[in-house]
Amino acid sequence: MSETVFFTGGAGFIGMHVVPMLLEKGYKVRIYDNMFRGDRDRVAELVAGGNVELIDHDVRYGGAVLAAMKGCTKVIHAAALSINKSQADPDESMDVNLIGSQNVFSAAAELGIDRVVFCSTASVYGDPEKLPMHEDDRLNPLTPYCISKRASEDLLDFYHRRAGLSWIALRFFNVYGPGQKTEAYYTSVINHFVKRIHNGEPPVIDGRGEQSMDFIHVHDIARAIVLALESEKDNVPINVGTGIDTSIADLAKILIEASGADVEPIFNPRDVLVSRRAADITRAREVIGFEPTISVRDGMTDLIKTAEIG
Ligand SMILES: NC(=O)c1ccc[n+]([C@@H]2O[C@H](COP(=O)([O-])OP(=O)(O)OC[C@H]3O[C@@H](n4cnc5c(N)ncnc54)[C@H](O)[C@@H]3O)[C@@H](O)[C@H]2O)c1
Repeated sequence: MSETVFFTGGAGFIGMHVVPMLLEKGYKVRIYDNMFRGDRDRVAELVAGGNVELIDHDVRYGGAVLAAMKGCTKVIHAAALSINKSQADPDESMDVNLIGSQNVFSAAAELGIDRVVFCSTASVYGDPEKLPMHEDDRLNPLTPYCISKRASEDLLDFYHRRAGLSWIALRFFNVYGPGQKTEAYYTSVINHFVKRIHNGEPPVIDGRGEQSMDFIHVHDIARAIVLALESEKDNVPINVGTGIDTSIADLAKILIEASGADVEPIFNPRDVLVSRRAADITRAREVIGFEPTISVRDGMTDLIKTAEIG
């Protein structure tokens, strides 16, 4: 009999890339999502396939989470409110992101779930003191969202010590790819550039465009989640990025080249805080056998050719 994966937030951007991979591996999937941002049409198609069910409910209700998780062997916890929302409404953010985690992890411990994979974030580091960023670097979460993610990682460790819960927390870097909502906090710059290039306008870069991010394609993120669900080693946070920092100026160049547009970026001279990001992915290689497969150039080229620009 096939195992069932309990997947909170499974109807969201990343979830919609993970579910087909799980089905391909022979799992059944029980999505637990209040559909606040979930993709109803896509979920309905998956449910029609027979091996996916949707429980339209909220992670803030512990009793409902526990009841819904019964019969599952593995858990992916991705339900969360975004970083933008967390600054606007810290109360709701802590409720969903921290109490939600408590409800999911305590239920998993009580039911003897084999593995919990938690979707954490590179934002737990705050502004990095050095590159590449390593899992043992000092954490300095700066917003309620990041604070809740860090505290959720600590909670996993608590349930490991208390009940032997097996977990992996994946610290995603800057995720991009098909299906992404256009206002995504760190990667909104991609959407902004793509829109302008599509309109025949040059991308506008603040300062010299030296700020950088570690852009990782959602397909590789989904692969990392599936690897973490099945790895032999556990109970650690793991960075998931490419290990390469791409500056905003380089991003503009890549997107212009990929589109074939005849424009040059405009630099808007202005003092900007130059933040940079790049993951040390040694642990991802060692613990879950992860290797990124889509280069930023290939991923962005695909995106600019296929993106529906919002
Ligand atoms: N996308 C990124 O760049 C990124 C980066 C780092 C970490 N993450 C983390 O990965 C996870 C998935 O991200 P995503 O980009 O797919 O986000 P998303 O917003 O597309 O998906 C989150 C899902 O959670 C659901 N949800 C929200 N509140 C809920 C609640 N109270 N109860 C039940 N379901 C609820 C939403 O309806 C949505 O379907 C999140 O935990 C996020 O914090 C994402």
